[in-house]
Amino acid sequence: MKILGIETSCDESAVCLIDAQGDFDFASPKLHAKAGNNFQFQVLGNSLISQIAIHAQYGGVFPNLAKREHAKNLVPLLEQTLQQAETLLRGDASQKVTIAELQIILAREPDLYERLIVFLQKYAKPEIDAIAVTVGPGLEPALWVGINFARALNLVWNIPLVAVNHMEGHIVMSLMRHDNFQFTIPNFQKETHTPKRCALNAVRYPLLSLLISGGHTELVLSSKWHDYKIVGATRDDAVGEAFDKVARLLGLPYPGGPHISALAEMSRNNAEQTRKHAEKVPHRSASVSHGSAFHLPRPMLHDDTLDFSFAGLKTAVLRIVQAHSPLTDEMKSRIALEFEDAVTDVLVAKTMKAVDEYGIQTVLVGGGVSANTHIRAQLATQLATVDCKLLTPPPELATDNALMIALAGYFRAQNREFVNPDMLKANGNLKLA
Ligand code: KG4
Ligand code: ZN
Repeated sequence: MKILGIETSCDESAVCLIDAQGDFDFASPKLHAKAGNNFQFQVLGNSLISQIAIHAQYGGVFPNLAKREHAKNLVPLLEQTLQQAETLLRGDASQKVTIAELQIILAREPDLYERLIVFLQKYAKPEIDAIAVTVGPGLEPALWVGINFARALNLVWNIPLVAVNHMEGHIVMSLMRHDNFQFTIPNFQKETHTPKRCALNAVRYPLLSLLISGGHTELVLSSKWHDYKIVGATRDDAVGEAFDKVARLLGLPYPGGPHISALAEMSRNNAEQTRKHAEKVPHRSASVSHGSAFHLPRPMLHDDTLDFSFAGLKTAVLRIVQAHSPLTDEMKSRIALEFEDAVTDVLVAKTMKAVDEYGIQTVLVGGGVSANTHIRAQLATQLATVDCKLLTPPPELATDNALMIALAGYFRAQNREFVNPDMLKANGNLKLA
C-alpha cells in the first residue's frame, strides 16, 4: 500500500511517500512468539523544509508565519517527493474537478491554491492508495494548511484520507529499526538517500512511551497496539519548551535544544578531562574546581506521581543568569550542563518509576528532545539494569517529519479508518487517550 504523509503541525513542512506491507499486531500470540512482525516498508520519496531560520529571529514559532510558509512549501515538496518516487507522469489531473470546488477548499490558502493548480495541470494522478495528514496536536493555523491540502488532493485524485495524531507518529517512528544504517532525511533539493527495505522493532507489552518534544512531556502506557493511557504528564512547560527558554536566557538561537546539548557535551568532556588529569597529578587536584558551580533543582523527582514540572527549573536558571551577568562562555556551558543533567535526572527517574509500577517490558522515547544523546544514554544505562529494552528513533527522524505520519497513517488505513474529508478538523490539543 502506498501512503502519502503530510506534516504541518509546527515549523517543519514535510511530505513523504512510503510503500508498506504487513502487520504490527503483537496481541496475536503467534506473532508474539516469533518476536518480530511481518511489517516492512520502503521510503519512496521524502522531503522537508524547515522554517527554523525564519522563526529564529522571533525566538519561537509564529503560528501565522508558519501557516504562510506551509502554504508556499507544500506543492514543491509534493512535487519533489513524487519525483523521487518516480510516480509523476505528465498529464492533466485538474480536468476532473471543477475549479470552484478547489477554490472553496483552499479559500484561506490562496498561495497554495495557485501552486496546486499549476501542479495539477502538469501531472496525471499518481499511484497512491491513501493520504495521511496530521490533524493535531499542534498549531491550529499550521495544521489547517496540511488538512486543506489533503482535502484538495482527495477531491482531485479521489484517494481516501486518514487523520493522524502527531504523537502517534512520534511513537511509530521510534519503533523503526535503524541499528545498521544511517538514515538521512533529504532537505529540499538535496539528493535522497534512503535504505531499501525498512522494518520496525519488535515490542513486548506493556510498552511505555516517553514522549518529549516542544509541546509535550508525557509517559504513555500501551498494553496493546493502538492502545494508549497517559500515566504522567507535565504540569507546566514541556521539556523541549524548557530547553528553548533556557537557551534564550543563555543567548543561544532557537530552537535551543541542540545548542544546549552541544554546550553541555563540551562541558561534560572538559570536566572529565580535568578529573582524569587530577587523578594523574594528585598534588595539583586541590586547586582544580570540579563539576558544576551551579546547582539546579530536580523538580518533582521524589514525589508520588509520574508527573513533571519544568517551569521552576527555568526560573532557577533565570536567577543564576541574573546573578552572574554578563555570562562568560564557560559559565554558559556549565549552566547548560547542569540544566541538561537536571532534566535528564527527572526524566530517567520518572521513567524508571513507571517501569516498576506497571511491569513495563519495552520503553521507547520519542519526540524532538529524544534526539538528545545524553538523555538517550542515561535512559539506556538505567533500563539495562532492569533488563528493559529501550527503543529510540533514528536521530535525524526524532524531530518532526512526514515519514512518521505516513507510517502511523498506514496502520490506520490498514484498519480502514478513513475519514470524510468534510469532517476533517484541526485539533491543537488532540490527545492520544
Ligand atoms: O518533535 P519536535 O520536532 O516538535 C514538536 O512536536 O514540538 O520537537 C522540537 C523540540 C524543540 O523544543 C527542540 O529544542 C527540541 O525538540 N530538541 C532537542 C534536541 N533536538 C531538538 N532538545 C534537546 N536536545 C536535542 N538534541
Ligand atoms: Zn513533534
